[in-house]
Amino acid sequence: MCGIVGAIAQRDISEVLVEGIRRLQYRGYDSTGLAMLGDNGAICMRRAVGKVSELERKLEASPCRGRLGIAHSRWATHGGVTEANAHPHLSGERIAVIHNGIIENYESIREELAARGYEFRSETDTEVIAHLIHDLLKQDIDLTEAVRQAMRRFEGAYAIVVFDAQQPDRLVTARIASPLVIGHGDGENFVASGIQALLPVTRRFSVLDEGDMAEVRLDGVTIYDADGNIVEREITVSEQSADAVERGDYAHYMLKEIYEQPRAIADTLSERILGDHVLEAAFGPRAAEILPQVDNVHIVACGTSYHAGLVARYYLEQGARIPCTVEVASEYRYRNPVVQPGTLFLAISQSGETADTLAALREARKIGYVATAAICNVAESSLVREADLSLMTRAGPEVGVASTKAFTTQLAALGLLGLAIGQRRSVDRRLVGVYARQMQRVPEMVQQTLKLDAQIRVWARHFADKHHALFLGRGPTYPVAMEGALKLKEISYIHAEAYPAGELKHGPLALVDDDMPVIAVAPNDRLLEKLKSNLQEVRARGGRLFVFADPNTGFTPSDGVDIMTMPEHIEPLQAPLIYTVPLQLLAYHVAVLRGTDVDQPRNLAKSVTVE
Ligand code: G6P
Repeated sequence: MCGIVGAIAQRDISEVLVEGIRRLQYRGYDSTGLAMLGDNGAICMRRAVGKVSELERKLEASPCRGRLGIAHSRWATHGGVTEANAHPHLSGERIAVIHNGIIENYESIREELAARGYEFRSETDTEVIAHLIHDLLKQDIDLTEAVRQAMRRFEGAYAIVVFDAQQPDRLVTARIASPLVIGHGDGENFVASGIQALLPVTRRFSVLDEGDMAEVRLDGVTIYDADGNIVEREITVSEQSADAVERGDYAHYMLKEIYEQPRAIADTLSERILGDHVLEAAFGPRAAEILPQVDNVHIVACGTSYHAGLVARYYLEQGARIPCTVEVASEYRYRNPVVQPGTLFLAISQSGETADTLAALREARKIGYVATAAICNVAESSLVREADLSLMTRAGPEVGVASTKAFTTQLAALGLLGLAIGQRRSVDRRLVGVYARQMQRVPEMVQQTLKLDAQIRVWARHFADKHHALFLGRGPTYPVAMEGALKLKEISYIHAEAYPAGELKHGPLALVDDDMPVIAVAPNDRLLEKLKSNLQEVRARGGRLFVFADPNTGFTPSDGVDIMTMPEHIEPLQAPLIYTVPLQLLAYHVAVLRGTDVDQPRNLAKSVTVE
């Protein structure tokens, strides 16, 4: 989940590299580095702990220039966040390597190379790549062949870019599981972990397939598949804007993205509902063949996307009357699941590159599902390319590490999936129409909910000095409570847990005192009275309650009970999308008060491409 950029050109590419990793920082941002081959034939390397701005400071004081180079933004896996562990890693002032992923068998390779006299200067798994390639080059083979032979030794998941100071005509790059794209320029060529890194220099891209390796030269790119055959990978022209996503007048990307939700949800629904009917074509050309066979859905995802899956279970079971199970991808992939006939495997992912989710999809393709499907925000992602069906969310680029608009657009897409399956089954056609119209009203209701922002900012003061918080919900708003707790812990570093309110008495009640704020999500649904009783249990123990409540629920503020009145007439289908919004805002304002790095919270990354 690190960011990788490589370039070969007839001009100085230091700025291309720095701008490239700036655009990839969402993949990790604990340290950065760059290595270039100078015109004097020597490698110039600068590395810094912290974000790209730290590296820039170093480069200003002591510039590197060159026409061949690599740069990296790190999310530490092996070895602490230090300059010595930052990438690139060198071997003998000759080989320079950047790496995203994990070489699982690095210890044995390291021992072997150390015994042969290679000196290790870092605690990373990556350094073995540099030394092994260096060692293989002693057999009088070229860099491309040395990388090929090295790949045969590595176990794990990785994307690498390598150059050799003695073969300055090329970069060599290879991928197993971690994403890589080639950027085709005019007399210059590039490689990166995502196209956004290269948009300022080219619009022509080809995505490397699993196991591919490529030789990137000034005059062209040769791609080899996992068996070593030369292959063509389609070149597509991206229409994405090269402008870095602007923050506008918002203090943080996260706040901007929260406010973009009405538009993003509307875009996700747009042209996908016609009258009382969901257009199946939105799921891809095979939808009409696959959807009628679906009797069961198995959802797999990570993080926020997993919470979207938990909401979808209600949409599918109640809306389409089919069973649905939901599981985190890192558990699923090692569980050897038993697949019921007629089951659709559904992966949900903002990025479409999350290692565990992608591995789960690949596993699922082998084990008897009716088909695989993806709900995803990135059309070029591996997940979308490998799934049989896909429904794109149209959230637009999400920059804040804490996911906001990606989540609510996933819920909108999952609502559409529920309706698409429902309308194929015996579910009342009229009801499908009612639900479709309810969905279409969500953007406007989210807009209304955003008006609570100022009040929520005031509430945030009650949380800023707390160490723990408890979130409660019931039914489909239980996953919303989970998402609220996740937002708070991710960006404010306050320990937060979510419970189904009915579980409170089975343990968490023991934690409740006047120092433990309890946040409850209280739509006006059939579980309301049950929820009220649960909240009484909190009050009776002196717990301080903060309730986001429907105006018709009869909640009144009193000592120790604060009520935030939500818009009226929120239907059960709409509630998860709308009740999420104030929880996002609460986490945001608490984090601002605590002075944390809201958009890039410590230890996290937006795209998690390691297990
Ligand atoms: C990381 C991000 C989360 C995200 C999760 C899954 O942990 O910080 O915001 O929910 O990965 O990512 P995906 O791209 O698969 O939705």
